[in-house]
Amino acid sequence: LVASFQHKVLAGRRVLITAGPTFEPIDPVRGITNLSSGKMGYAVARAAREAGAEVTLVSGPTALATPHGVRRIDVLTAQQMHDVVMAGIEGQHIFIGVAAVADWRVANTSDQKIKKLDNGGAPQLEFVQNADILATVAATTTLSGWPYCVGFAAESENLMAYGAAKREKKGIPLLVGNIGPQTFGQDENTIILFDETGHTVLERADKLTLARQLVSEIAKRLERRSL
Ligand code: CTP
Ligand code: CA
Repeated sequence: LVASFQHKVLAGRRVLITAGPTFEPIDPVRGITNLSSGKMGYAVARAAREAGAEVTLVSGPTALATPHGVRRIDVLTAQQMHDVVMAGIEGQHIFIGVAAVADWRVANTSDQKIKKLDNGGAPQLEFVQNADILATVAATTTLSGWPYCVGFAAESENLMAYGAAKREKKGIPLLVGNIGPQTFGQDENTIILFDETGHTVLERADKLTLARQLVSEIAKRLERRSL
């Protein structure tokens, strides 16, 4: 009831969000993934929807329920996530990359389940770097100015320096930093917003509260931009 009286800050906006880990196959039954639970990305999707946006969530494997009113597309690998995002990016006003996208995939995947060797040896995996989805999307914004791109970064050290540098390197207006990997799978988080003017700390809170604050911070910046 309260919400219905509030101004929907993202009404009429289309928002594309990535969330969760990716899964990079080794063979038909094995793969490499990471500890992202998807909780933050799903909270951001829910908050954007609450704010009136039309939300598409491109999700790696998670155990989470789809937020109400959100369109969800499931993927496994970073390449699939890249392809689904690029196929849907046109017409989006906001892109928020919350997913913990694998930086590498296995180059020499096996079509058959790899058998254990009698001599005690181990398979030699080779890796190749995955495309950077966020940077690719950011590179497409140069003409129209859309979509407004937001990145997430979990840093295990030097968050202040790395956060600001990562925002610049990715060529995005807003980067959300947190100290990882302690926050992976947790319900609470502390985040820092890096933009062209500096940084803002959002004090420790549950991920939905932070997601709602992030959504209003994004809306505020979009409003300023269109003045
Ligand atoms: N990201 C992406 N595609 C990738 C890798 C990362 O879209 N292949 C996005 C993430 O969703 C996140 C942001 O980029 O929004 C930052 O991810 P992060 O792993 O912190 O940055 P990297 O550029 O991969 O640098 P590194 O892992 O070396 O710190
Ligand atoms: Ca990375």
